[in-house]
Amino acid sequence: MHLFAFCAYRRTQVSDALNYLLAARPDAIKPYFKFLKESGKHLDPKTRDLISVITKVHAQTEGGFRQYLSRALRDGCSPNEVLDALLMAFPALGLAKIVWAIDIILEMDIPEFHPHLLDSQPRWHDLMAIDDVAFGEVAYAECDGRNLFIYRTHESLNVYDSRCPHQVSKIPELALAGETLTCPKHHWAFDIRTGECIDKGSHPLKRFKHKVENGHLLAYW
Ligand code: FES
Repeated sequence: MHLFAFCAYRRTQVSDALNYLLAARPDAIKPYFKFLKESGKHLDPKTRDLISVITKVHAQTEGGFRQYLSRALRDGCSPNEVLDALLMAFPALGLAKIVWAIDIILEMDIPEFHPHLLDSQPRWHDLMAIDDVAFGEVAYAECDGRNLFIYRTHESLNVYDSRCPHQVSKIPELALAGETLTCPKHHWAFDIRTGECIDKGSHPLKRFKHKVENGHLLAYW
């Protein structure tokens, strides 16, 4: 079995197992979920996220690491903060586990982690001539290391990151069918008109601020 397929299989298994225990032994399992919900409630979300990332590195659960890393980035942690957290946890993790995590980050190929971008400040990026974005159709753009989906109507325009909000996987152009974009990895599906997740998942596509200037569409990241 391919490694990715195996990881997805394991995640499904664990989730099914917890669901089973919840049904079969609710008195034993409900306190566990309560504990998870209560722990860390006095910490700010970014600190909680970074601690969760470290626990997944310590346990070396790849799916969990990808998921918690994605959540940390979604909640506003910068790549530098993630790297600092990993390095600060060196006494507990050791170099081998930190290298394990970095290997996965490299495999995920997240643009913000590229060394020359670590300290870069957000700025406007020129995506394309606005006339190249047809009304009611989806345009696909590649710009400065990022791939984007653009949807324009006569009333609005949205610029979305092509990275899946689940585990930051690249969603290819071919994953679009009509107005539904489906991530090939675990099949979260999104309505490209709004970016909302409409099947399997729980988070919308990331949307970038944009503007039109001198006939060009620009996005900010
Ligand atoms: S990475 Fe899991 S659904 Fe996209």
